[in-house]
Amino acid sequence: MIYWIRLVVVTGLFLIGISAWTIAPLQSKLQASIDRGKIIYTQQCLSCHMMDGGGVQSMNPPLIRTKWVLGDKADLITIVLKGMNSGVEIDAVQYHNIMASHADLSDQQIADVLTYIRNGFGNKAKAVTEAEVKTVRAKTH
Ligand code: HEC
Repeated sequence: MIYWIRLVVVTGLFLIGISAWTIAPLQSKLQASIDRGKIIYTQQCLSCHMMDGGGVQSMNPPLIRTKWVLGDKADLITIVLKGMNSGVEIDAVQYHNIMASHADLSDQQIADVLTYIRNGFGNKAKAVTEAEVKTVRAKTH
């Protein structure tokens, strides 16, 4: 009896240890990217899209649960690399300002800032990686 209890406890501790060992580094990698991205957002995007991602009425669109922020990663990366000038409509409001290119940012910086906006302002979407930005940049040249 004692033996079985011991076995269960030891197995349990082992499984907890394994999951902490495998999941924790992944989470801290994501958090590190989000933290770096927040700094880039503050320097490069905040003046137009605002601290809370709410944008500026009829000028700069919000980044809260829009199809661009949550949608296809390649399209989102392209917006940062090329800028945007097509005009957008979000919640029946039109936005027509010009967003300039931010191609001077590194692949890692773009990945971080996009990971930040996809996990901030009430958004929840997968991280963007440096490799994904690199691939899109190579195609958009
Ligand atoms: C000069 C102001 C300005 C800056 C700086 C700026 N944007 Fe934009 N952004 C805009 C405008 C204006 C649009 C809409 C363009 C249009 O009408 O086609 C836009 C569109 C977007 C969109 C798609 C529409 C939406 O709301 O989902 C995303 C995503 C985006 N910007 C992210 C960023 C990120 C990330 C940064 C920083 C790297 C950034 N922007 C910097 C003005 C800006």
